[in-house]
Amino acid sequence: MRIFSGIQPTGDKHLGNWSGGFRQYAATQDRGDDAFFCIVDLHSITVEYDPEELREQTLDLAAMLFATGLDPERSTVFIQSHVPAHTEAAWLLGSATSFGELRRMTQFKDKAERQEFISAGLFTYPVLQAADILLYQTDAVPVGEDQRQHIELARDVAERFNARHGETFTLPAMIAPEVGGRIMDLQEPERKMSTTGGTPQGTVRMLDEPEVVRKKFKSAVTDSGSEVLRADDKPGITNLIEIMGVATGEPLEGIESRYDGAGYGAFKTDVGEAVVELLAPIQARYHELRSDPRELQRLLARGAEKAREASDPTLQAMLDAMGFVRSEFGRNFGAARPREL
Ligand code: AMP
Ligand code: TRP
Repeated sequence: MRIFSGIQPTGDKHLGNWSGGFRQYAATQDRGDDAFFCIVDLHSITVEYDPEELREQTLDLAAMLFATGLDPERSTVFIQSHVPAHTEAAWLLGSATSFGELRRMTQFKDKAERQEFISAGLFTYPVLQAADILLYQTDAVPVGEDQRQHIELARDVAERFNARHGETFTLPAMIAPEVGGRIMDLQEPERKMSTTGGTPQGTVRMLDEPEVVRKKFKSAVTDSGSEVLRADDKPGITNLIEIMGVATGEPLEGIESRYDGAGYGAFKTDVGEAVVELLAPIQARYHELRSDPRELQRLLARGAEKAREASDPTLQAMLDAMGFVRSEFGRNFGAARPREL
């Protein structure tokens, strides 16, 4: 099965990213899937950002992807801007995406509210995301719940393109985890955990020191009552139970019965400890990998080569189906290598 997912290099990565992203990516390897994981640097320029930080954070994220379990022998990890087909396909797919569809995207509306300058790129962001996915004839996209609308859009665009121009794309499906597809902020459990939209104290970063992690869990907002049980009117404790579940792999019912009568305080301390244990080996691997940027660059260059090869046939099929006159080199886009004439 062909898998594709993308993750933005800007903004520190957090426990929500691990639960909805990293954890699912690594799981695809054990299933023997053919998987591509893309550091979507081109998506990161759609809101205000710092170029120097982008450069550093792109390598930070590469180290984090390998540290959380991606094996360069089994998965393809690469940087979006290393593969020109993504931007090229995005322009082409813009013709099969409507203004109305883009205007309905909740992520656009949320992010636009927080920007002084609302870039055109922020609006067309989901078209680039559709290009990412469709170029690889992707069967399934592992993501967190917040990406559902974007994956549905990619599917709609693919269907429309196929109907207009003939079968060109596989229709992608979303894979979201059954538990932990939407980890909430520890201070404001009505909001998703996020370094850009959440609270600093309620966001557990992948690189937080153990003491910081413990403190964040100790001060997590809980609800009235004292029962460690999931309920709609107990968003704080429900979130902590889910976090415990994803950190330890224990079924949520088991956690609830183990903490029956234990009280919130003891439970919060234990969740904090479970997360510290989860993060410790990841952080150690991360620091090791990050200390050798040349090795990271080498791995990413290999990934980009594989990604170029995998995506080019789709790009060429799009160009043919859409009626472009071929250039004398036989290719209209990108690093044109003359085709044998
Ligand atoms: P981003 O950092 O926005 O590129 O997101 C990378 C991945 O993390 C995507 O698959 C998101 O759906 C996922 N993700 C982000 N925030 C959360 C969260 N609070 N809970 C679960 N998954 C999340
Ligand atoms: N929009 C996604 C996010 O913010 C990142 C992303 C870009 C992505 N391209 C993708 C996710 C393709 C899955 C597939 O999390």
